[in-house]
Amino acid sequence: MTAKASSGPTHAAIPSDGAWDATLSLLREGYYFIPNRCRRLNSDIFRARLTLTDVICMQGPEAAELFYGDAPLTRQQAMPQTVLRLLQDKGSVQQLDGDAHRHRKGLFISILMAPGEVERLRHAFRREWLARLQSWENHEKVVLIDEVHLILTRAVCNWAGVPVGDSEEMATELAGMVEYAGHFRPGTVGALWRRRRTERHVRKLVAEARAKRGSVDPSLPLNRVAAFRDVDGEALSVDVAAVEIINMLRPVVAVGRFIVFAALQLHEKSEWADLFRNGHEDRLEQFAEEVRRISPFFPFIGARAQEDVRWRQHIFPKGQWFLLDLFGTTHDPKLFPHPEVFRDDRSISWRDQGYDFIPQGAGHVASTHRCPGEMMTVELIKESVRLLSQETFYVVPPQNLSVRMNRVPALPESGFVIEQAKARPLL
Ligand code: HEM
Repeated sequence: MTAKASSGPTHAAIPSDGAWDATLSLLREGYYFIPNRCRRLNSDIFRARLTLTDVICMQGPEAAELFYGDAPLTRQQAMPQTVLRLLQDKGSVQQLDGDAHRHRKGLFISILMAPGEVERLRHAFRREWLARLQSWENHEKVVLIDEVHLILTRAVCNWAGVPVGDSEEMATELAGMVEYAGHFRPGTVGALWRRRRTERHVRKLVAEARAKRGSVDPSLPLNRVAAFRDVDGEALSVDVAAVEIINMLRPVVAVGRFIVFAALQLHEKSEWADLFRNGHEDRLEQFAEEVRRISPFFPFIGARAQEDVRWRQHIFPKGQWFLLDLFGTTHDPKLFPHPEVFRDDRSISWRDQGYDFIPQGAGHVASTHRCPGEMMTVELIKESVRLLSQETFYVVPPQNLSVRMNRVPALPESGFVIEQAKARPLL
C-alpha cells in the first residue's frame, strides 16, 4: 500500500480545509479539529495550513498503516518545539529511524513489556496509594489528579531505582511536562525550566550508576539504561541516557489522566463501581481499554516524509508534513459504533497491534513508533479501579467535571475532587 514514488504527478486532488491558515481553528476546536473537517469534506484525508505550513491531515486505519508501516516517514521536525522539548527531546527513541530506532526500542520493550516489571510497578503503585490514603483522612477534600500524580511519581521512581528526593517537586516536574506540552501558554516556560532541572538530576544518577558499576543492582531500569549499548556498540551519552530514563518516568505519571477519567466513569455509572467492588475481575480489562479509547489524550501525532511517499493515488514530496488523527480514529463511528457511549463489549486490546484502536499508536510495537507502555498503562488503570472501588471510600461533591475539548491534554475541569476519603472498612 505504501511505496516510494518513482514518477507521476505530485499528488491527486485532496480536499482542502480552505482556510488561509487554520491554526486558530485548531486552538479553538482542539481534539475535534481533524474529525470536524473529515466529516465536513467527507474524506479521511485533507490538506490544511497550520502555523503557515502545508500539512496533510489523515484519520482511519489506512492512514495509521501509513504512519506505522514501512513508508519513509520520520518523527523529526514533525511536532511543535514544546512537544519535542517537554515530551521527548533530541536523541530520544522517538526521534530515531530505521535500525537505530529498532535497536533502542528493544531496550524499552525489554523493560516496559516484561510481565515481571509491570507487576513490580503495579505493586509499587498499590503500596504508595494505600500509604497516601492514610493522609487523605486528615483532609476534608483532595484533588485526585494531584494525588495520583504524586503516587505515580513515588511508585515509578521507586521501580526505576531513581532516588526521588522531594517527591512533590518531582511530581510537579514530571506532570508539568505533559500538562504544558499541548501548546505554548503561561506555564510552558516554567515547565521547560523544570524539565532541565529533572534532566540534570537524572544525568547525575546515570554518571553515578556508571561509576559504581559492579555494586549497583543491574536489573533496575536506571542501571539498565546506564549500561545499555546503542546500535553502534557505544554506551549512550549521559544526556541521552537521562532523556530515555525520563521517557519512562514521565509517561507513567501521565497515566494519572486516564486514572482520573476512569474515576469519572465509575462516578457517572455507579453500576460499574458496584461490579468491581464485588470483584468482577473479568470485566476489568475491557473497562480499562474503553477508558483509553474514549478519553481524550494524544489528539494526533506528526510525521514528515524523508523521501517522496506514494499513498493510494497520491504522491507526497520529500519534506511533506502529516498529522494522523488518533482521537478521531478511536471515535470513528464506522469503527466504533456510537463512539461517545462507554461500553465494555467492544473487544479492543493493545494486544491486537492493529490500526483502528490506536490511542497510543498503531502497528507492531517492536518495529514502529507504537508506544511500548500500553501494557503498563492498562495494568495501572486496572489497579486504580480496584483501589477506587474496593479500598477507598470517598464522596464526589458537586463540582465542574466538564472536559474542555480544546484543552490539550484534556482533563475534567476540577481535577476530580473527592471528599471524606478514607480506607474502605472491611465488610
Ligand atoms: C499515559 C498514557 C500514554 C499515552 C497516551 C501514550 C501515547 C503514546 C503515543 C501516541 C506514542 C506514539 C508516538 C509516535 O508514533 O511517534 C507513544 C510512544 C512512546 N511512549 Fe507512550 N503513551 C502513554 C504511556 C506510556 C508509558 C507508560 C510509557 C513508558 C513507561 C511510554 C513510553 C513511550 C515511548 C518511549 C514512546 C516512543 C516509542 C518510539 O518512538 O518507538 N508511554 N506513546
